[in-house]
Formats: sequence, C-alpha cells, structure tokens
Amino acid sequence: MLDDKLPAKCITHAAGRNAEPLIRVSDLSLFYGEKQALRNVAFNIYPSEILAFIGPSGCGKTTALKCLNRMHDATRGVQITGSVTLDGQNIHAPEIDPPLLRRRFGWVAQKPNPWPFSIWENVAYGPRIHGLTRNKSELADHVEYCLRRAHLWDEVKDDLHVKEGTALSGGQQQRLCIARALSNRPDVMLMDEPTGSIDPIATGKIEELMTDLRADHSVVVVTHSMMEARRVADRVAYFHLGRLLEIGPTEVMFGAAHTREARAFISGKFG
Ligand SMILES: Nc1ncnc2c1ncn2[C@@H]1O[C@H](COP(=O)(O)OP(=O)(O)O)[C@@H](O)[C@H]1O
Ligand SMILES: [Mg+2]
Repeated sequence: MLDDKLPAKCITHAAGRNAEPLIRVSDLSLFYGEKQALRNVAFNIYPSEILAFIGPSGCGKTTALKCLNRMHDATRGVQITGSVTLDGQNIHAPEIDPPLLRRRFGWVAQKPNPWPFSIWENVAYGPRIHGLTRNKSELADHVEYCLRRAHLWDEVKDDLHVKEGTALSGGQQQRLCIARALSNRPDVMLMDEPTGSIDPIATGKIEELMTDLRADHSVVVVTHSMMEARRVADRVAYFHLGRLLEIGPTEVMFGAAHTREARAFISGKFG
C-alpha cells in the first residue's frame, strides 16, 4: 500500500504564526500487526487552531488521531514508533498516567454515541467521577456551561433530567456528545468525521461550534468534506497511503498545494 514514488518528505508550509506547538508529532509510524498504517508522520498542533485531516479512505487519518491520546493502547498488535509530545513531555513516558493524559482530550466519533441516560447524566458523569467540581451547584453550573458551549442548552434545558440522550435528534445527540467531551475540561478536541452522519443544518451548527471552541481549544477534525475543511480549518493536513504528504494553512492547501496528490484530491479527482 505504500507508494515509493511519493515525495520523500512531507511538504510543510509555514503556519504563519510563532506560537509554541502544544503537541509535536515526530517520525511517527504505526503497525497493525504486519500492516503499516502510518509512515514517518510529523506535524505540530498549535493552541487555538483547527487542524483538519483530509485524504482518501484508509490513508491513516483516524489512526493518526488516535495516536494523540493513546487510544491504541487497548488494541492488540499495535506497534508505534516515533514520538508525540504534549507540553514538551513524551506521552509514552513511563511516568505518564494514560487516564490522566486522556482527560486532556475530548473525543467525538462520527456516529453520535450518547449514553442511554438522561441528558444531565451524559454531561455530569465525567466531572463527578473525576472530582472536577466541588459541590452540586458547581456541577450544575458546569453542566450548563458545557451544554451552552455545545450550542445545545436552549433546546434541552427543560428536559435535562427527564429525557435520555438517545431520545434527541441526530444533530442534537452529536452536540450532546460534544458537551460530554467538553465536560472534562480538555485542551484538545479530537473529532473523527463529526458531521459524517448528520444532515446539512445540523452540520452547520457543529461547524459553528467548532469555530467557537477554537478560542480555548486546539481542535483536530477528520473530514471527508472539502467544503467543511475550507469553512472551518486554519490548517489542513493531507494524508495519503499512510503518509502525511503535505500540511499548511487552508488557503495555501486549497489554492496552491504543492503535491500532485493533494491537488488532485482537493479538486475532487479521486477519493
Ligand atoms: N484495528 C485495525 N486493525 C488492522 N488494520 C486497521 C485497523 N484500523 C485501521 N486499519 C487499517 O489501517 C489503515 C488506515 O485506517 P484508518 O486510519 O482508519 O484510515 P482513515 O481514517 O484515513 O480512513 C487502513 O488500511 C485500515 O484498514
Ligand atoms: Mg477514519
């Protein structure tokens, strides 16, 4: 699956900013058993940016996303080499406590997956078990805050305890999952095709809230929609056959991508 005719090195267009990266990924390779799914991937994630992962199906976008919060830990036969640092610290260092590391990330999957409990419980559960709030009224404030950040509060505030998360519409369920992901006060939101299974109006709401989240989070979003990448992302990373071929500011990637593969994919010639 790996094509040796591709350029030897990832083309990295300057991000146009001087901030220190929050996350640095260097020389990251990943094998599922014998099969290599990522090859020498390297990129940074900056505070307060939306970085979109694009590329054909099966090229390693989800795999790369899961490396950031050590979601592969539980999968047998996965071998990872290279390094990922968060705030300068290697996330695979022995002193790292994986559950604590994971709390710094919110995860949103393609298919909304609220728990079959009340709306309230979906958002209150995490902060309660992690002891993030000191008392009931702080917890209530926090739940409201998360639901407001997820642009869902006004639609559910009268049903918090009486309606199950699973009884909401698809788009509402996805915003509930975002509120749940926010409830642990993450620094980074990882979103794997969060609008992949919802309608255009619901998609618009999610895109709007992603843009709001950027104020105080880094957001990494996998998307199949070039329109969406263009609308929301500050930077775009193009994956191809397990490699990160090119990364740069959205306007550069859409206007003047360097690699033939990225240009062809972005213009809809394949994928
Ligand atoms: N758990 C797994 N075991 C074995 N192979 C996998 C597993 N997950 C993904 N793959 C393979 O790794 C490659 C990259 O997959 P993935 O990261 O899901 O791609 P994308 O998100 O870009 O569609 C694909 O060839 C896929 O079949
Ligand atoms: Mg995927």
